[in-house]
Amino acid sequence: MILSIESSCDDSSIALNQINNYKLLFHRKISQDNEHSKYGGIVPEIASRLHSISLPKILSSIDYDFKKIKAIAVTNEPGLSVSLIEGVMMAKALSLSLNIPLIAINHLKGHIYSLFLETNAIFPISILLLSGGHSLLLEAKNDKEIKIIASTLDDSFGESFDKVAKMLNLGYPGGPIIEKYAKQAKKKNINLPIPLLNKKLAFSFSGLKNAARLEIEKEFKRDSNVLNYSEICYAFQKSAITHISQKVKLYLQNSSIKYFGVVGGASANLALREELISLAKDFNKEILFAPLEFCSDNAAMIGRCAIEAYNMEEFIGLDKLDISPNSRIFI
Ligand code: KG4
Ligand code: ZN
Repeated sequence: MILSIESSCDDSSIALNQINNYKLLFHRKISQDNEHSKYGGIVPEIASRLHSISLPKILSSIDYDFKKIKAIAVTNEPGLSVSLIEGVMMAKALSLSLNIPLIAINHLKGHIYSLFLETNAIFPISILLLSGGHSLLLEAKNDKEIKIIASTLDDSFGESFDKVAKMLNLGYPGGPIIEKYAKQAKKKNINLPIPLLNKKLAFSFSGLKNAARLEIEKEFKRDSNVLNYSEICYAFQKSAITHISQKVKLYLQNSSIKYFGVVGGASANLALREELISLAKDFNKEILFAPLEFCSDNAAMIGRCAIEAYNMEEFIGLDKLDISPNSRIFI
């Protein structure tokens, strides 16, 4: 069994993954959404303090013989430094007291393993990773060789949803809120621009976010009482998804990789899923998603990723394990 810890952002989570058959024996997560919601985004000091309360709470709720645990895995990069440090400190304490090795896991690589929680991993695979911190198109030849094909020039996909929701005073995280409002749209008369209509393989969301802001201000000026939230959310979500879809199409035209995985918190968006499923069909690709509950940050994917490291004996010394707010692993 591996005990894994995730605290890179605003979710405190611990899991127990069985090494030989990938079974997920325990998984629990305490989200901080409510605490950050009133600020319209994550407040690092609050996130850090809440991790220091939630992680021990989850740990003490585990009914398992800790002597059977073979290694401790923890997310150490990338993420908020004050959040990462909470998980890393707990991992070090557990490793020391149980006298078992430590495994450091890259959060983004962890998201890839959300596709293979209780199964064998599939390589090579193309990956679209859409979260609050990242928007990446990746090619993973194997567990080690992961190449960045496209990234964002400015904001990430999820982040732009968070910011538009903040402009509308709808709370945090913006993704599920915007998706909910967009679904309710009856009138669909607002058109927002689609970013980067060229052949460049990259993402961009800040221009679209700004266009949404101007539209919101225009509507407010006209009559603040009739601001149509669902119509704006629909228009914004549609442009953001069309942008993703156009760039993925550009990529798939020249890719011979059969499997296409979509991961990260924003991969829970059903309108996005629908669009990508139809695109994958057009290009004869096999599309993979994580179960909805494991799209956002969780320790189960970190533990699953750590099984690969455990089997290769990729351990890290107590004194060597440090946090790295920026990611380094991708080539
Ligand atoms: O992967 P994740 O839990 O944390 C990071 O590693 O960043 O992703 C969280 C992000 C937030 O920006 C959130 O608004 C976005 O994912 N998100 C969504 C949806 N659900 C979560 N974005 C669009 N549509 C959704 N349904
Ligand atoms: Zn994440």
